[in-house]
Amino acid sequence: MATNKVDLKVFTNIGELLTLQGVVQKNGRHVQEADLGSITKAALVCSEGKVVWFGPQKKLPKSFLKSTKSQKVQLLDLDGKTVMPGFVECHTHLIFAGDRSHEFELRNQGVSYQDISRQGGGILSTVKATRKISVGHLKTLSQTRVNKFTRQGVTTLEVKSGYGLDLVTEIKMLKIARALSGPHIVTTYLGPHAVAPEYATAQEYLHEIIERHLPKIAKSKLADRVDIFVDRGFFTVENAKEYFAKATELGLKLTVHGDQLSATGASVLGAHLNAQSVDHAIELSDQDIKNIAQSNTTVVALPSADFYLKLKYPRVRELIDQGARVALATDFNPGSSPTQNLSLVGVLARIQMKMTLPEVISAYTFNAAAGLGLETQKGALDLGFDADFVIVDGSWRDLFYQVGHHPVINVFRSARQIL
Ligand code: NIG
Ligand code: FE
Repeated sequence: MATNKVDLKVFTNIGELLTLQGVVQKNGRHVQEADLGSITKAALVCSEGKVVWFGPQKKLPKSFLKSTKSQKVQLLDLDGKTVMPGFVECHTHLIFAGDRSHEFELRNQGVSYQDISRQGGGILSTVKATRKISVGHLKTLSQTRVNKFTRQGVTTLEVKSGYGLDLVTEIKMLKIARALSGPHIVTTYLGPHAVAPEYATAQEYLHEIIERHLPKIAKSKLADRVDIFVDRGFFTVENAKEYFAKATELGLKLTVHGDQLSATGASVLGAHLNAQSVDHAIELSDQDIKNIAQSNTTVVALPSADFYLKLKYPRVRELIDQGARVALATDFNPGSSPTQNLSLVGVLARIQMKMTLPEVISAYTFNAAAGLGLETQKGALDLGFDADFVIVDGSWRDLFYQVGHHPVINVFRSARQIL
């Protein structure tokens, strides 16, 4: 007779385990070092890909150590290494074709990001290349980029569309996103990333999106949520209101690129509409900061984009001190942030935004998960959470210190090794 044996994975000999239990309890706000939930000489027990026990190894119940009729036990010795939640990269534009390295050169010679866009470069040049490329080739390029994130311990990864602008290419991008392997993937439709070249005005293109594209995107189930780029020369807050109303009606979650290049009020709108996250959020007033800090919306800071575009950095210290939940991400894309380097993002956060290391760690794990609506599953190793974790060679204190040095040696998703 077939028996339903429980599979247990028991990870022992962990030098230091970070569970982030305190971060979960505080919902990612006002994070202190003690909230990282450090346990030395620890053990971690997983079943069905979820955390079922953690604590000092001395207290590990003996019942977890033996296979019986009802359970099959696999013991894994982690050799005194550090274990912590896998990283959650919550804002990327990693599916794209073409190359924009010449724009970097132009910007360094004084041409602005907006001027490059007006001259047909910027997002629209990537749109041209992404429309043209074959699905197979785009898949290969994208998977290679995902693997680069996996090697840095990313176990959950957000991927946006937005370089098609026409429905066919947007769907092509979202299908590729859904098929990527390695981390858990969250997909975001970003049709209103720029005005599609076929339309004379933002209003006309947006009308097409609302009437034709959004219903098809919702029906396809290819997107977990929707995004819009609100800024001068792109879309207005009024556009965003209409777009979000339709998306909400269709059951899609919201996120927004807001207040990056100019103050538009898009971040406050996002918070008001209970968006999962408001991203960039640089040009905020004191009142905006107050409103957002009191909302349930996560602020995603993208300091590598600010670095590359020589923008101000968001007022993260004030946001955090007033109780906001702040996450970090690379914003990886071929224009404003051509880097996938988590350590650069964390170092910029510490130097330029005065974030403490525990704040950076929580921003890149639990808080980023909350920004994707995954706050009960990802970004912590608390009971019932997905067993997504990394093994660090050395201490977590070595992270986000040396740019380019990110000592993740192994990566587990749902307790299964993916690196
Ligand atoms: O997040 N701000 C809008 N979108 C991207 C840039 C995309 C691009 O330049 O291709 C960003 O910075
Ligand atoms: Fe972005």
